[in-house]
Amino acid sequence: MSQGSGLFLSFEGIDGSGKSTQARRLAGHLRDLGREVVLTREPGGSPGAEEIRALVLNGDPDRWSAETEILLFTAARRDHLERTIQPALERDAVVICDRFADSTRMYQGLSRGDLRAQVDKLHALMIGREPDITLLIDMDPAEGLSRALSRTGAEERFETFGLELQQAMRRGYLDLAREHAERFRVVDGTGDPDEVFDRLLSALPEFSEPRA
Ligand code: TYD
Repeated sequence: MSQGSGLFLSFEGIDGSGKSTQARRLAGHLRDLGREVVLTREPGGSPGAEEIRALVLNGDPDRWSAETEILLFTAARRDHLERTIQPALERDAVVICDRFADSTRMYQGLSRGDLRAQVDKLHALMIGREPDITLLIDMDPAEGLSRALSRTGAEERFETFGLELQQAMRRGYLDLAREHAERFRVVDGTGDPDEVFDRLLSALPEFSEPRA
């Protein structure tokens, strides 16, 4: 697939890290600077991928094996990339994606055994691209947990994962950020949303000036 000339940003973090709020704020900020922004999310972000989202996130958490989940998330991602992300990048838009392949590396690659190699192979075969910049909102899982549980309609998955696994995911994300230091920016997610947003903007010097 061609690369397109826009900018592709992803947000990552454990559940309750506040990344969705920050992604929305960044989208608003960049629109105010005059950029076309496509704010999207995974799983989902295109009609077909939203259907797959319903398959993977609703119902019994043991409905699919980790391996089948890798296939479903990757199928959703391929559709999302073809129909939403790639066309937006070709129009020179900024794409802000709430979760991308790093979520599969962590959630399916770590949580039920070590499946990272399978995730990476399938990614190389069927997706073949990473975001230009990945913003990791880093957060203490105990704090993230209390936030996630206080949300109305919070998805079941977080509770079933438990604190220990969230600790492992946090470490996993920080390791991933070191492994892919060229695209990751780690932002401390503690404090109120304004403070976090200020940190986020400092981590994105490319957007400190309006584009000519
Ligand atoms: P999301 O709606 O983004 O929830 P949150 O607001 O907590 O980020 O994602 C739903 C869940 O899907 C979340 O628990 C992470 C999980 N997920 C995976 O397990 N694998 C993936 O590849 C993706 C994109 C998400």
